Formats: sequence, C-alpha cells, structure tokens
Amino acid sequence: MEPVKKLDRSVKGRAVLVTGAASGMGRATAHLFAQEGALVAVTDINEAGVASVVKEIAAAGGTAHGWRLDVLDHAEIKRVVAEIAAHFGRLDILVNNAGFGGFSPLGADDYDRIWDRSLAGLLTAQQRMVRAALPHLRKSDAARIVNIASTEGLGATPGDSPYAVAKTGVIGLTRALAVDLGPEGITVNCICPGPIRTALTDAIPDEHKTIFAKRRTALKRYGFPEEVAHITFSLCIPAASYITGAIIPVDGGLMIRNA
Ligand code: NAI
Repeated sequence: MEPVKKLDRSVKGRAVLVTGAASGMGRATAHLFAQEGALVAVTDINEAGVASVVKEIAAAGGTAHGWRLDVLDHAEIKRVVAEIAAHFGRLDILVNNAGFGGFSPLGADDYDRIWDRSLAGLLTAQQRMVRAALPHLRKSDAARIVNIASTEGLGATPGDSPYAVAKTGVIGLTRALAVDLGPEGITVNCICPGPIRTALTDAIPDEHKTIFAKRRTALKRYGFPEEVAHITFSLCIPAASYITGAIIPVDGGLMIRNA
C-alpha cells in the first residue's frame, strides 16, 4: 500500500490579510492566525480598532501589522494590498470579512442608498480585494481565499433585501472565482455565519437573541466569533487543498431546522 501522505497543517510564516479585523469575527480570525504563527495584516476602516487589535496580538506574542483600509475605496484597496505584500514580502491568504448591516424595508426613503452601499461594500469590495491580491497570491504555493457571506445569502429575513442580495452575490462570486482560479490551485471558499455575538448584533437585546436562537437554531444559542474563525482558519491551511467553491454555513443549525 502507498504510505499515507502527511499534509502540511501549518500557516507559520504565511501572510494573511483580514478585512474588517478591528472587531467581531475579523478580530477573532486575526488572533487565531497570529496564534498559529502567521504574519497578520489587520485591516479595517476603524483605525483605532486596528491599532488596538495589533497591540493585543503583539502582547500575545504574535506578528501583526495594521492598515486603515476602507473596502468601499477602490484606490485604497489597490494601494494597501500592495503595501501589505511589500511589508511581509508575500501574501498567501485573503479573508474577505469586512461588513455592515444593510437592513432596509422596501418602502424606506433611503432604500436605494442602502442598496447601493450594500452591494458596493459587501459584494463589489470582495471582488476588488481578490483582484488586487491575485498577483501576490499567485506566487504562493498554497493560496487561499475565504469570503464571508451570511445565512442571509441562503434565505432572507423580512426587510433585509439589500443585505440578502449582496450576501447571495458573495456565494455566486465564490463559486465563479473557484472555477476561474481552480486551474492555478488557488482555492476560494465561502462561510455563511448564522447569528453570531459581535458588534453587528449588539443592538439586539439579549432576551431577543435567546428567544430567536432557542426557536430557530439546532444548538439553541448564538455563536461566538471564535467559532467562525476556526472554520475560516481550517479552510486556509495548506492541507485544505481539495476544497474549493464550498459554501459552508456556520450557523448552529439554523438552515437545517424545519420546525
Ligand atoms: P462587526 O461589526 O463586529 O465587524 C465588522 C468590521 O467591519 C468592523 O470592524 C467594521 O469597522 C468593519 N467595516 C465596516 N465597514 C467597513 C469598510 N467599508 N471597510 C473596511 N472595514 C469595514 O461584525 P461581524 O459580525 O464580525 O461581521 C463580520 C462579517 O460577518 C460581515 O461581513 C458580516 O456581514 C458577516 N456576518 C455577521 C453575522 C453576525 O451575526 N454577526 C451573521 C452573518 C454574517
């Protein structure tokens, strides 16, 4: 029999760029990669948040550097991605995580504005990040892209159409890029988080969170950002070399529960 292959599970020394890394799932993801020895580019529109996450990671013994990066700004994307690749001398992994709520009932006065902003910031931005990162990812022997969508890309909550459409687009983008980049060995996968305790869901009172989670999720609770970060991480190790175009709910069983 052929000996069992030993695949590489380490991201040590590999450079990872996380967008929206000042808070929530992005912050947890940046920490996890740093714990595992990666060189972490902490990026976010929130500069104070970036500085504080970089400090936390350094205090924990990890390697991180921070950049202000507004994913709505195409010129800034191009400049900052180039700076990150130059700073670390490489870029192996891109985690497209930055996001914001796009809740807007159909009759709202500012519906069009929220629609445009949601598509630009949640969907177009991911495509632009990928295109800016590609020349650098192509030099890696284990290039990985993870796009963060949402269970709102698999179904829809009333009044949430701009967000749901943008997140559904992220799923399509993931599949299309996985097909385009597969021949080069670059994997592109997508995570659909369910209800997770982050700044994005902070305004929902705890009592409502509990009622919703008990009624709708199999695991009967909200998730923690770290629980999403670990799945993102697992898709980015060199050994995760035969999974691409996958759409993975990390939702406590929200989407599989009928009653
Ligand atoms: P969060 O609010 O804790 O973190 C989002 C981060 O993105 C913040 O640090 C924010 O400053 C940053 N950001 C916002 N606009 C930006 C821009 N234009 N450029 C760069 N950074 C920007 O929220 P969370 O929950 O950690 O969100 C992460 C991702 O997960 C988002 O894409 C969100 O849509 C998605 N998500 C969240 C769920 C939840 O229940 N919390 C459920 C499903 C998806």
